Parts: sequence; C-alpha cells; structure tokens
Amino acid sequence: MAKRTIVTLPGDGIGKAVLDETLRVLDAAGFEAEYVEGDIGWEFWCKEGNPLPQRTIDLIEKHKIALFGAITSKPKDEAYSELAPELKDKALVYSSPIVGLRQHFGLDICARPCKTYKGNPLNFIRRSAENEIEEPLVDVVIYRQNTEGLYGGVEWASPKGIVYDALMSHPKFKQNFGKVPSEEIAVSTRIFTKNATERILKAAFEHARKYGYKSVTVCEKPNVIRETSGMMYKMAKEMQKTAYAEIELWNTNIDAQMMWLTKNPEDYGVIVAGNMFGDIASDGFAGLIGGLGFACSAQYNPDSGIGVFEPTHGSAPKYAEFETSIVNPIAMIESACMMLDYIDEHDMASKIRNAVADVIIEGKVRTYDMLKMRGKQDVIHQGAASTKQMADAVIAKLK
Ligand code: NAI
Ligand code: MG
Repeated sequence: MAKRTIVTLPGDGIGKAVLDETLRVLDAAGFEAEYVEGDIGWEFWCKEGNPLPQRTIDLIEKHKIALFGAITSKPKDEAYSELAPELKDKALVYSSPIVGLRQHFGLDICARPCKTYKGNPLNFIRRSAENEIEEPLVDVVIYRQNTEGLYGGVEWASPKGIVYDALMSHPKFKQNFGKVPSEEIAVSTRIFTKNATERILKAAFEHARKYGYKSVTVCEKPNVIRETSGMMYKMAKEMQKTAYAEIELWNTNIDAQMMWLTKNPEDYGVIVAGNMFGDIASDGFAGLIGGLGFACSAQYNPDSGIGVFEPTHGSAPKYAEFETSIVNPIAMIESACMMLDYIDEHDMASKIRNAVADVIIEGKVRTYDMLKMRGKQDVIHQGAASTKQMADAVIAKLK
C-alpha cells in the first residue's frame, strides 16, 4: 500500500519544536508516512504579505491531513510595521492563518478532549465534605463550532450607511444605542446557521453514542442570547428526542459552567457550544487536566474529510528562543493521536497514548510546567525534562 502523506505545518515559535518531537514519536511507534512541510505563519506574512500562502492551501487540499504546531498573531499595527518594506503600500491586512484555514476548508467541527492522566501533578483536586482531598476524574470532550459565531469576522467599526440603518431598524438598538454617535460604536456579530449548528450537535451526539458518554451538555446562554444560543438549544432538544433518546441532554450557561467545572467536573461528558463559548469552556476544562501542555484538538470537515490536528496552545514566542526547548510536547503528541484515530489507525493511537500515560504515572520525566516551575532556560538544571527528553521518555515506553 502506498504510504500516506501528511502535511506538516510547524508555524512559529514553539510550534516547530513540539512538532519535530511528535514526528519522532510517530516514527518510533511505527507509523509509516511521508511528510511534506507547508509554509505558514509570521515569517510568510513578513516576507510575502500572506501568512497562509496558496501553495500551502494546495498541499492540504491534495493530502487532506495536516499536523499543525502553532502560529504567532500580532495586532494590526504591529503586523503592518513588520511587513517587508516593498509590501507596505499594498494595503495588506494581517489575519490569522489558522482561522483562515478553518474558514477556507470549512473545518467546522472542532473536538477538544480533556481527560485526566493519573499521576499528573497538575490534576485538579478539591476538598470533600469529610475534609479529604479528592482528585475527580475529568473525562470531557468539548465540541466547538469552529467557523461561525463571534469569530466569523463580520464586524464594523463606526457603522455607516445601510449597515447603520439596518441596526437602527432594531428596536433594542434604537433604544439603547440610538443616541450614541456612530463613530463611538463598534459591532461584532454572532451569526449561527442552522446547517452548521446541526453539524456540530450531530458530531457531539455521535461522539457520546460511540464512546458511551451519558450526557451531552449544550453550553451557551439561551436565556439572554435568545436567537443564537436559543436556536442551538432548541435544535439540540429536537435532535435528542428524535435520534439520541438514550443520551441525556443538559443545558448550562457558559458563566455557570465555568463555576461548575471546578465543583463537579466529573459529572460532565460531551459539551457542545458555539465558537467562542467552546473556546472558553475548552480552556477551562484543560486547566483541570494540566493546562496548555496537555490540551489537544482535532478540526475537520466531515464532507471533504480534510482534518487539521493541533495543540490548543500558541507559539509561546519567548520559549522559542531558548537553546534547549523546555516546553511540553504532550499536547502536540496527543493531537497526533487524534489524527491517528481520524485515519483509523486506532491501535497506533492507543499505543502512543498508553506510553504517554506510563511516563506521567511513573513521574520520573516531567517538563517544567508539570513541576510548577517558572519557564526559564535553567529549569533543565533543576530537574525539568526538555521537550526532547519528554519525547524520548514516551518513545522508551512504546510497546
Ligand atoms: P501561548 O499558548 O503561546 O502561551 C501562553 C503560556 O502558556 C506560555 O507562556 C507558557 O507559559 C504556556 N505554554 C504554552 N504552551 C506550552 C507548552 N507546550 N508547554 C508548557 N507550557 C506552555 O499563548 P499566548 O502567549 O497568549 O500567545 C503567544 C502567541 O501565540 C500569540 O502570537 C498568539 O496569537 C498565538 N496563539 C496561537 C494559537 C494557535 O496557533 N492556534 C493559539 C493561541 C495563541
Ligand atoms: Mg483558546
């Protein structure tokens, strides 16, 4: 059989270090693939005025599966100032290439699992009524709608003309903002479509069914954000009743969810939300299982099959300059396991996950974050493992 080709997108900062180590783990586990590297990120913005060149889009279109490290984004003015001098008069505007990828390929389903590793010193603990320390097992998967909502990019500063007129046609706008000069108004929309809402709900319910989770929780705010959150919850109720009666449907407000997750995180199974609330809830749950060094994700389009797998952390630029990389590669390794599951290499995925679990429970090799150290280069001399040493430890445990 022909070898599979995977597009690697190291991007910026620590993206390269965690991706390189993850590729070593995949090799050592016996995963046979060819890797082609795609250009993405800050360097290409500065040099070419485009952080997501067309050639990279073509590569992903062709090979369908990509492993992505992280990119650096900077505010508009800073981005402009770093642009190559010859590009400065071309009216280029920076926009995040990862958001661009999601939108270009319609990667509307984003899954972010947060599962406790036994023995991780960063696991969430609490005190019981009997004054004992408890370490509840967190096993949650957040399904985040990845292309619409507040991150859809439909925004106006100082809305004018027909946009302003349309806003004024809404009684609430007229009442609350009608007297505010338009130059003092900024508007970001939160658009949900029925099609995308149905797709993310279905993905969440299917996951619950396949892996035996007892509940799906819609985490929105339907009592206040009536049209969008309200629509998602209403559609979820209908879907549960007609197609997933064996799964309980729960409804939490995003603000209350952020409180509940530190009181009774073990009660939750699959969580489904719009783009921003999904982002917030997934970072919240990630905090209970060790934080950014452990938070992985898959994003895909079920129609085209295109999938991009990435840790949810960013490029952590200050760590990228260290001579020896100290960041935790586990989030990237776990993202690669999600890729393996996606392409039906389940045994390979379990093998790597078990090796990671063995390293964590043994507790001999820990990166600085797991030792609660400040991220400085000298952590290596204080007993913290480097990125490479962590990957070596995982490789040594592969059976
Ligand atoms: P960040 O995730 O890059 O780093 C925040 C902090 O988390 C770091 O200072 C470090 O202490 C810790 N951290 C992150 N990854 C870690 C790892 N693997 N192991 C141990 N500790 C880790 O977020 P920040 O600082 O807000 O953003 C830095 C840049 O990354 C920005 O330009 C931002 O736009 C970009 N970014 C990119 C994302 C992506 O590529 N998907 C996601 C989030 C931010
Ligand atoms: Mg986030």
